[in-house]
Amino acid sequence: MRFTPRFLDDIRARASLEAIVGRRVRLVRRGRELTGLCPFHQEKTPSFTVSDQKGFFHCFGCGAHGDVIGFTMRAEGLSFPEAVERLAHEVGLELPKEDPRERERHAVEVTLGGAVEAAAAFFEGQLKTESGRAARDYLTGRGLSAKTIEQFRLGVAPQSRGALKAALIAHGIPEAILVEAGLLIEPEGGAERYDRFRGRVMFPIRDPKGRVVAFGGRILGQGEPKYLNSPETPLFHKGAMLYGLDLAGQAARKANRIVLVEGYMDVIALHQAGLAEAVAPLGTALTELQLELLWRYAASPILCFDGDAAGERAAARVVERALPRLKAGFSLRFATLPAGEDPDSLIAHEGRTAIEKVLERSVPFSDALWRLVVGQTPLDSPEARAAIGREFERRLAEVTDRDLRFHYLRHFRQKLNEAGFRARRFEPGAKPGQRRAGPPRLAAPSRPVRRADERLRERSILQLLLNHPALLGEFGDEIAHLTLIDQRHGALRDFLVGLPEDVLMDRAELGAALAARGLDAAAEGLIGEGARFLDWAADPGAESGLEDARAQLRQALDLHHKLVELEALRHDAVQGLARDLSDENLTRLVGILHAIDGAPGTEDAAPTGVAAPGSRRS
Ligand code: UTP
Ligand code: MN
Repeated sequence: MRFTPRFLDDIRARASLEAIVGRRVRLVRRGRELTGLCPFHQEKTPSFTVSDQKGFFHCFGCGAHGDVIGFTMRAEGLSFPEAVERLAHEVGLELPKEDPRERERHAVEVTLGGAVEAAAAFFEGQLKTESGRAARDYLTGRGLSAKTIEQFRLGVAPQSRGALKAALIAHGIPEAILVEAGLLIEPEGGAERYDRFRGRVMFPIRDPKGRVVAFGGRILGQGEPKYLNSPETPLFHKGAMLYGLDLAGQAARKANRIVLVEGYMDVIALHQAGLAEAVAPLGTALTELQLELLWRYAASPILCFDGDAAGERAAARVVERALPRLKAGFSLRFATLPAGEDPDSLIAHEGRTAIEKVLERSVPFSDALWRLVVGQTPLDSPEARAAIGREFERRLAEVTDRDLRFHYLRHFRQKLNEAGFRARRFEPGAKPGQRRAGPPRLAAPSRPVRRADERLRERSILQLLLNHPALLGEFGDEIAHLTLIDQRHGALRDFLVGLPEDVLMDRAELGAALAARGLDAAAEGLIGEGARFLDWAADPGAESGLEDARAQLRQALDLHHKLVELEALRHDAVQGLARDLSDENLTRLVGILHAIDGAPGTEDAAPTGVAAPGSRRS
């Protein structure tokens, strides 16, 4: 059954997310949202939030995310249509009637389905006969148990052009149906139709409900092609299915984990080894539909790739394909197999724990993207870092989820900045060789955090807030706890974070509120005529957008935190050195001083790629 978007919207509108979640989770209101303990993972403090207004739930702990239908699927372990039916019933909506075309399609599916099922039974039966011995030995030789062979309904196609055809026609199935189901090949020019699969071990491909829709056939031993698959049929869309999902689905939902491997044999070997949540594509590169399918089972599917160059390329392709599809709470992880092994061979050689280790060492999407963008590029010059920064922006422009794009940008800018800090540590002045030559000396920058720079940075943070007060809603908590060295800044900040949200949305109202508290002069000094701006979005004359201001504020806050943190580290390092004048302690202090020296106001303190005022229409 297919549901129209309108019908689904009706359900979403009628079913109260708060009420439905409320049956499972004790919810407490916090501002516009409700929070509680996440029902999808173990936790002691609530990170599960529900916004009835937006119609979404989100867990900041495990990433579970979705609407009322998604919640019902997860909470009750239902498939999408099952959850829709359940909710429709609850809110008193009648399920839409199927239209005649739909019914016709259904009839075709039933007929083709019957043919494919009969073929599967035939291949299974053949495996048990005397002529199936070679295939049986092959499968046993690959370590498969009788139980596994039965679960996956493995079989064999006899070495014959007409064995399947004869058997199924005897079942009363017309030849035309066998052709349409991809079981017979129809030569051009009207020659006789013959069996597509001959002398191959047969892997039935099943839909999520366990119905056979197609086959993959492997040659016994060496030869080409190694695997032969059914063609596309009305039942079988390669790019929209995953091998093994019928058996993996439930286990995946339960474990909130799904593992994508490359081959049929990998899925089967993993399953036999007790890792049931494994699936594979059908001999093609992973499609967007398959990605969406994986996300129905777990928030962060783990994709396994070979540990060679081809594996790396395959991973890169997936990263590119996934970028526009990523959304908050839905990501991917990337696992790399030891070179020369696939999951099947790894289990045979080293057992299940070796696979678990590979999965444990999987890296998040951001690391895979970093690897794709940065690769082996050295990041030791500001130019290189700026170029890479722009490349990240170009790639991330494809992320359609705005929040996610913003957080990724911030993440990579920070990583690039850190690469900058590290690079500078090894520049002249901090060379270990130099130090070893004579007694350790503190030639390097010996001044503490530059107070003037810090004051400028604070100033910039307040300027950004005064020019874009709407940001206080989002950054309020962080700003309320900020250590500020200038007391006037502190007073202004305390006033700003104490304002109700509606005042903050409007600059004119904010001006009036400032005047009422006698802070208008202080504000004018910060953003009035002739003020200096480190961040151009802080300048009311630049007419910057909220997005830019947000990015610049984030950047400014990160630098501020870094300075405060580095200052604390410097303090510790000085004390450490006072206790023990070792080479190691000295190296540590020098490193910190270098980092401090390079932190604020340097070239990579500027958010990468932020356009200069005037160069962009707002
Ligand atoms: P592999 O060549 O990695 O084979 O193909 P495998 O899965 O390890 O198979 P074994 O262990 O040698 O039996 C991975 C997947 O690519 C598709 C199949 O889906 C296969 O499972 N494939 C491969 C084809 O469709 N055709 C081929 O000729 C080869
Ligand atoms: Mn293999």
